[in-house]
Amino acid sequence: MRVGVLGTGRVGRAIAARLAELGHEVVVGTRDPTATMTRTEPDGMGNPPFRTWAEAHPQVRGGSFADAAAASEVIVNATSGAGSLPSLTAAGEDNLAGKVLLDIANPLDFSAGMPPTLLVKDTDSLGEQIQRAFPQAKVVKTLNTMNALVMVHPDRVPGDHSVFVAGDDANAKQTVMNLLHGFGWSADNIVDLGGIRSARGVEMYLPLWLSLRQALGTGDFNINVVRA
Ligand SMILES: NC(=O)c1ccc[n+]([C@@H]2O[C@H](COP(=O)([O-])OP(=O)(O)OC[C@H]3O[C@@H](n4cnc5c(N)ncnc54)[C@H](OP(=O)(O)O)[C@@H]3O)[C@@H](O)[C@H]2O)c1
Repeated sequence: MRVGVLGTGRVGRAIAARLAELGHEVVVGTRDPTATMTRTEPDGMGNPPFRTWAEAHPQVRGGSFADAAAASEVIVNATSGAGSLPSLTAAGEDNLAGKVLLDIANPLDFSAGMPPTLLVKDTDSLGEQIQRAFPQAKVVKTLNTMNALVMVHPDRVPGDHSVFVAGDDANAKQTVMNLLHGFGWSADNIVDLGGIRSARGVEMYLPLWLSLRQALGTGDFNINVVRA
């Protein structure tokens, strides 16, 4: 498939690299391609400069958010929670219309320091905000409940563990589930929560994820939904 990955952080890089490895045609989008490609210092999260990553992945094209969205059948939102709506606006409503929008973003607010709080919760979610802002896109929330490496290599965590999908369009969810299978997620470990409203729960899981990360001393973990 042709996939546009919006985001050059840990998640964007992990998803883009894995998709390319699996034979998909991938374009990564960023706010300012020239600035992103000429930066020589680590990004705000301490990741090596994007250019270093891009040079190691010559099969992945780079461009603006609009370039990535226009070129693709499936669009991945791997931008910061606060930056998601502006980034998707920059991608262009017309470039999103009718397409699957796989949303990984968490609405984390770091403005008061650590641990972050949530920008939206309880009665709304970032996934729903994105769906309302871009009604013609088919938003599917998934993969936001684990670290970037586990998303694309679930076997980093031994045994069965769960990934959630939430979205209003059944065909879009199937497309996303097919991509998840490609990453290594078995059908039994994919839990379909229903409509995009279910994004509330998976986004509100983040405070617990952060506590677990602290308690376990590693990000290589996940939760498993065990059925009777
Ligand atoms: N890191 C993880 O393991 C993990 C796990 C689960 C979910 N998530 C979620 O996935 C998303 C991506 O996470 P990440 O760690 O890869 O990167 P991040 O630092 O949260 O986001 C970086 C990306 O956001 C873009 N962006 C757009 N507007 C922005 C703004 N106003 N401020 C800052 N960045 C802005 C940046 O654009 P430029 O390219 O132009 O800099 C960059 O591509 C986030 O929503 C995060 O909560 C992350």
